[in-house]
Amino acid sequence: MAEDLIVKTGSKLEKYEVLIPQIVALIENEPDRIANMANVAAALKQTFEYFWVGFYLVHDDELVLGPFQGPIACTRIRKGKGVCGTAWLKKTTMSVPDVDQFPGHISCNSASKSEVVVPLFCGEEVFAVLDIDSDRLNDFCAEEVSYLEQIAKLLK
Ligand code: SME
Repeated sequence: MAEDLIVKTGSKLEKYEVLIPQIVALIENEPDRIANMANVAAALKQTFEYFWVGFYLVHDDELVLGPFQGPIACTRIRKGKGVCGTAWLKKTTMSVPDVDQFPGHISCNSASKSEVVVPLFCGEEVFAVLDIDSDRLNDFCAEEVSYLEQIAKLLK
């Protein structure tokens, strides 16, 4: 089951088409948010070999590092800071083609070149963000960002 989840062929967007129903099946009967975040991070990392995939969870006025795959990362991010804190504050997806051009970008690893952050909502409130880092500039097209938003909506 777990190994079958890794989509090995097709374009990036074709892989998303196959992967999303598999993620639905993987998490639909599991109510634990952290367990589901952990498996989603693993599924995205293994399928696309992104540099870093993970979640930050809202704790009071900060984001705190949650389940992730990749190198060690910053533990806490203030609201409005960096790409993650901005996505939380603005309640919107942030797609940054060149992180060096983003004022206030928090560099956890100099290998990160482009980044997408998608907020996760419980009603109107953001309870976490999904953060994807690539080691390539301009690595996320609009369709890919849309797929990541679909995945974020699966996590309640
Ligand atoms: N670059 C992010 C910080 C988190 S790491 O990329 C894992 C930011 O600016 O919010």
